[in-house]
Amino acid sequence: MSILGLIKPKGPSGYGYGTTAEVVTEGVALKGRDFLVTGSTAGLGLETVRVLAQRGARVFATGRTKQKAMAARERVPGVIVPLECELGDPASVRACVASLKAEGVKLDAIIANAGIMALPELKQAYGYELQFFTNHIAHFLLITELLSELKEDARVVVLSSAAHKRAPKVGIDFDNLSGARGYNPWQAYGQSKLANLLFVKELAKRLQGSAKTANAVHPGVIKTGLTRDMKALRAAFVVASPLVLKSIPEGAATQCYVATRPELASVSGEYFADCNVAESSAISHDAALATRLWEESERIVGTLG
Ligand SMILES: NC(=O)c1ccc[n+]([C@@H]2O[C@H](COP(=O)([O-])OP(=O)(O)OC[C@H]3O[C@@H](n4cnc5c(N)ncnc54)[C@H](OP(=O)(O)O)[C@@H]3O)[C@@H](O)[C@H]2O)c1
Repeated sequence: MSILGLIKPKGPSGYGYGTTAEVVTEGVALKGRDFLVTGSTAGLGLETVRVLAQRGARVFATGRTKQKAMAARERVPGVIVPLECELGDPASVRACVASLKAEGVKLDAIIANAGIMALPELKQAYGYELQFFTNHIAHFLLITELLSELKEDARVVVLSSAAHKRAPKVGIDFDNLSGARGYNPWQAYGQSKLANLLFVKELAKRLQGSAKTANAVHPGVIKTGLTRDMKALRAAFVVASPLVLKSIPEGAATQCYVATRPELASVSGEYFADCNVAESSAISHDAALATRLWEESERIVGTLG
């Protein structure tokens, strides 16, 4: 456990900063339940898969390639089905959807966990800034294509971040989704994580009247592969960890909490941190912006072939 995890008080849920994914799923029987976890080959995704499988779930675990997903499966006991889902390639996302449909799987939850952060230089996919494309557009495609494959009371859990507060002032800069008119690594990451949050808000609205839910998560600050492109931050993390950073089991707790705890069955459209409902930025509550982003995302995926 991290040092802060020992010190920080728990929240109203009874869990908090120092709660691990194992602790938060204690007593939750997941046998017979099917989960899809993206980015399952490392970091928080791998720990999430491990703990869900430990509790009896069958986990469809995605990686950029089938080989990567299979290698991850070797590291974790339980019923794990490796799938390819390269988020930078819509054909790969669609093939992943098709293989789940072909198997007739009805999902209890999707945990949209994969992500990239603060790329030092502008990179693009299909003309869109790569973090916006990978973190938001590709998950938008995956999840909206799988809505028909969700169980009646299924949950959609999307990894956002406290960094959503670093998005541009306008929230989503629709005039610069390519990044070509100016690129700032953290602002672009912030925009993509705000997009994750706005997506959840709009999805929750669209799921109203059903027993399905959609929620967003900030996992904490954890030393994972996410900082692979940032030498200075990695060095700072070596010093800071484990003094102020969460461990990976602590980092995976909030998504496991939101995806599995029975008491959250009817909680939807919320933003969670440290296994409790948390405050998100004012602009993340802008319903018109969330609707506009949904419509723009639909338009974009429609152009991807
Ligand atoms: N760690 C933190 O402090 C922190 C804080 C706030 C939010 N988050 C969020 O938490 C989530 C998990 O991050 P993490 O810390 O566990 O990072 P990580 O260790 O880097 O794991 C990210 C996972 O996403 C996968 N991924 C990246 N790009 C992909 C692509 N184009 N297609 C398919 N898979 C891709 C990675 O696969 P490869 O290894 O093959 O690239 C890896 O399995 C992210 O959404 C991140 O934004 C993390």
